[in-house]
Amino acid sequence: MSELKFDAVTVRYGTRRHPILAVNDVSLTVPEGKVVGLVGESGSGKSTMARAAVGLAPVSEGRILLGGASIERARRERAVQMVFQDPYSSLDPRMSISDTLIEAMPRGVRGVAARREAERLLELVQLDGRFAQSYPSEMSGGQRQRVALARALAGRPQVIIADEITSALDVSIQGAVLNVVRDLQRELGFSMLFISHNLAVVRYVASEVAVMYRGRIVEHGATAAVLERPDHDYTRTLLAAIPGGGAASSSPSAIHETPGSPA
Ligand SMILES: Nc1ncnc2c1ncn2[C@@H]1O[C@H](COP(=O)(O)OP(=O)(O)O)[C@@H](O)[C@H]1O
Ligand SMILES: [Mg+2]
Repeated sequence: MSELKFDAVTVRYGTRRHPILAVNDVSLTVPEGKVVGLVGESGSGKSTMARAAVGLAPVSEGRILLGGASIERARRERAVQMVFQDPYSSLDPRMSISDTLIEAMPRGVRGVAARREAERLLELVQLDGRFAQSYPSEMSGGQRQRVALARALAGRPQVIIADEITSALDVSIQGAVLNVVRDLQRELGFSMLFISHNLAVVRYVASEVAVMYRGRIVEHGATAAVLERPDHDYTRTLLAAIPGGGAASSSPSAIHETPGSPA
């Protein structure tokens, strides 16, 4: 596993005369085997950070490194994987779950070995093996998001970028999906950039939190420290939006779901 490092990264959209600095000179490290939460309001640049890491947004300045080397090679080797917000549009409706997972496996895994690996991946995300033969249209949002996670894991990634992966799900199943993410990360040890506009969600999975505001990181520290002693006014505003106050939580109950309920 490897650390993911954004080194003075700027992503510029718009025109020369009217530039939009979606990400403005941001440095951020996700240490090896750790989860860093990235929070901030809508439009603050969180998804642009994610997209830059996987090569979907243009890096105008700075660089992104994985384990100290340029991230391009890691991308080619599928060592960096992203899970998107919307599990309805991120899975191919014409492909069975099994085929979706097999396609994402390292080249050379075929036949019986591939089918066994697909079953193992489903087990990892706590889905019954019978879903291998299912199609996305037969599954709930929570089940689809588990498949999206399993597909990300199929490439044996060193880093997973999760962009608002519970935001499109029914509140009643968000906790169960978060539990799966937390257990998987502990078991497999990948590094993860976990993005959400919701500090209540982030504090449940991340050991560190970075707060983004208008393209910049305005605060970054251990999750408990940021929650207990926010430096920045903006972080205090985010904290005030959490029901039940800001104390660090070891269960996702503060976002009103039932841990372990089927999703
Ligand atoms: N492809 C794009 N073209 C132009 N502007 C963009 C593009 N993607 C994002 N932006 C702008 O960059 C800013 C940050 O967006 P985004 O990274 O999606 O924020 P967040 O994920 O925090 O809501 C916004 O002002 C958004 O309008
Ligand atoms: Mg976003």
